[in-house]
Amino acid sequence: MMKGIRIVATGSALPEKVITNDDLSRLVDTNDEWITTRTGIKQRYQCGQETCVSLAVQAAEEAVSRAGIDRAEIGVVLVATQTPDYIFPSAACLVQKELGLSEEVMAFDIGAACTGFLMGLGTARALLEASPKPYALVIGSEQLSKIIDYTDRSTCILFGDGAAAVVIESADKSFRQKSWARGNREVLSCLGPGNANAKLQMLGSEVFRFAVTALAQAIEEVLGEEGITMAEVDYCICHQANARIISHVMKKYPGFEDKFYMNIEKYGNTSAASIPLVLDELFREGKLRSGSRVICVGFGAGLTWSGLYMEV
Ligand code: UT7
Repeated sequence: MMKGIRIVATGSALPEKVITNDDLSRLVDTNDEWITTRTGIKQRYQCGQETCVSLAVQAAEEAVSRAGIDRAEIGVVLVATQTPDYIFPSAACLVQKELGLSEEVMAFDIGAACTGFLMGLGTARALLEASPKPYALVIGSEQLSKIIDYTDRSTCILFGDGAAAVVIESADKSFRQKSWARGNREVLSCLGPGNANAKLQMLGSEVFRFAVTALAQAIEEVLGEEGITMAEVDYCICHQANARIISHVMKKYPGFEDKFYMNIEKYGNTSAASIPLVLDELFREGKLRSGSRVICVGFGAGLTWSGLYMEV
């Protein structure tokens, strides 16, 4: 059987500044009622002094300290992000230095938009099988406020900054992942460096329709291939993009609504940080522990989407 992973510890970091729906209603033509009913979001965080890398370092430091491991034993550092401080050096290399990790480490960033953390987990799992060192650090960190157009009410209300990290090791546990990609520039994109207007652009309702189908497909296929049903899963963690997207998916599993954890009201959509922020919350609250069975599903620009089932 393919090796799985054990989540040894988690950590998270958020900027100090909170932006409420009322704050946004002073910037664009919107209101708390519209944002709450259409998205489930009440507030999100925004970097001031913090950056993508400083949040990644803080989240990683917390995860590594909680893990109580020898940091020289970390052989892989991956940062899933769309908003690194630099094009190069990678955020992962800066985390390696700030955490005082060994130079004998494979450190690089993962670019798969909101699906990035799941791609990172899959990549780290595979790398660990051949790694001379037992631990990998996988981080999702975003400073989306850098690429948000705060005159566009259809996008600026959605996104937030934040980071979360996990320390993992190889383990004889179930792990199954399926991922998809469909080249599409039209519905969700952000131009690269050198472009004067490198801001996030999105056709929201098209992304919404894609998301509902993609999440449902990912859950069904992963459950089917593992040969289990939702009843055997403790939590189904969806990328926190919009509470209505998650509610649509949840309706396909009547009786299991409480397995679809949501924290979007506090953070908005933090892209690559959204799934690890849920994992961190669930571990901290004791709702997930060694042996728990979870499904994680994500989707995002690319378009990309991925589903994974793991026994943590
Ligand atoms: O991480 C992955 C990335 N993205 C997503 O997952 C986003 C997925 N999509 C969505 O979450 C939703 O499509 C949105 C929240 C972005 C928009 O909600 P919607 O229910 O799909 O609204 P809509 O785009 O169909 O717009 C309905 C109306 C429009 O007005 P008219 O044309 O009907 O007069 C919009 O101009 O709502 C208007 N609108 C707003 N009104 C108040 C759009 N944004 C706002 C706003 N406040 N912030």
